[in-house]
Amino acid sequence: MDRSVYYQQHLTSGEDAVKQIKSGNRVVIGHACAEPSFLIEEMVKNAAAYQDVEIVHMVVMGKGAYCAPEMQSHFRHNGLFLGATTRTAVSEGRADFTPCFFFEVPRLFHTTLPVDVALVQVTPPDENGNVSLGVSADYTLEAVKSAKLVIAQVNRNMPFTYGGAAIPLTEIDMFVEHDAPVIQLEPPKIGEVERAIGENCASLIRDGDTLQLGIGAIPDAVLLFLKGKRDLGIHSEMISDGVLELVEVGVITNRKKTLKPGKFVVTFLMGTQRLYDFVNHNSDVEVDPVSYVNDPFVIAQNDCLVSINSCVQVDLTGQVASESIGLRQISGTGGQVDFVRGASSSRGGRSIMAMPSTAKGKISKIVPLLDEGAAVTTSRNDVDYVVTEYGIAHLHGKTLRQRAHALISIAHPTFRPALISEFEKRFLASY
Ligand code: COA
Repeated sequence: MDRSVYYQQHLTSGEDAVKQIKSGNRVVIGHACAEPSFLIEEMVKNAAAYQDVEIVHMVVMGKGAYCAPEMQSHFRHNGLFLGATTRTAVSEGRADFTPCFFFEVPRLFHTTLPVDVALVQVTPPDENGNVSLGVSADYTLEAVKSAKLVIAQVNRNMPFTYGGAAIPLTEIDMFVEHDAPVIQLEPPKIGEVERAIGENCASLIRDGDTLQLGIGAIPDAVLLFLKGKRDLGIHSEMISDGVLELVEVGVITNRKKTLKPGKFVVTFLMGTQRLYDFVNHNSDVEVDPVSYVNDPFVIAQNDCLVSINSCVQVDLTGQVASESIGLRQISGTGGQVDFVRGASSSRGGRSIMAMPSTAKGKISKIVPLLDEGAAVTTSRNDVDYVVTEYGIAHLHGKTLRQRAHALISIAHPTFRPALISEFEKRFLASY
């Protein structure tokens, strides 16, 4: 069938589209800044019609209204990652958390989490009858491919990106036209501590490296110190505005990449309109599914892959807790381990865990033992470099004693005496 005819025949209103969601359905929502806010609003307005609709989502950038206490009998959120709007619902027992590696999420849609309905956001169709998932291909693409019903908010403000993100419009069952600004992530404030961490991380990065950067002030601070480097590349779960300046000054060229030279390879994008304008119809940017971008075997095909991620606590043996404070789940594994493992198999690769030495200015993040109940995100077998504002600890392949020694040297000075006394008790040796 002519694709423009298909589009017209499958066009409907938000109100009518969400009536197709049935009690007991599993609904997967498009990820992060690509979340289809209008469809979610319409679904929540129709809450009285549903019982026990499971909402599967990862980074929630919107209001997460389906997590409100009064929504309890209508929706149950199943978070694959938690954030500000979903943590409380999980800690109060009104929602669930499912531990997972990001690159395996698409596979879950064929095993434990088959999808009834996918709610996503797309661009209007192009001249070839394709729409683009824009700022998120990640698990969103597989949700579209595997769902029994796909409802898409068509938003003219969504940038048209290439790679796996561009799909035939016939993959969508119902189109709901609604223009709205795409959710934006403002650049974070970079303080003195982040600058020092950024400078330490940058000292581990060499000309020609390919980078993976997480979200937040630390990755952006690292970028500030890379202006003197040459021919850096990007193969990253996500990028935000921070990379643009390095593209403009010719530091990020992607020229030396051993996998897809010349291309930015990402699975989602979070930034301001500046980033969205940069990626719009930019054939140098591939937005591919997370089952590809984050697969450690794919990551490892990039020589000299350097990953930079953050964490909550590191114990003296190098066990890294990144997603919970004790028993309280605050985020998720995300792509951290995908990239730590990919970097360790990459020829010349390195992985960096970068964090301030303290939390709230008074709690050491380097600790003798992780808080009771904390989930180990990156194991001590996988950990490579740990960086704070006080320096760099290289742990991979080191003994327990060498690790503890190195970690104490980058802890906040206030906490070093207590850590040293723990070291001496544990290793029966003076520091
Ligand atoms: N003890 C007590 N509280 C701690 C703590 C500790 N050791 N470490 C952090 N916190 C608190 C912070 O004070 C902050 O509290 P607040 O919200 O009341 O201000 C909260 O936990 C979040 O910490 P913060 O350092 O502000 O978080 P961040 O936004 O820099 O994110 C991680 C850090 C570790 C949570 C985040 O990087 C993450 O989730 N990582 C795992 C996933 C990942 O790496 N994905 C791959 C890249 S996208």
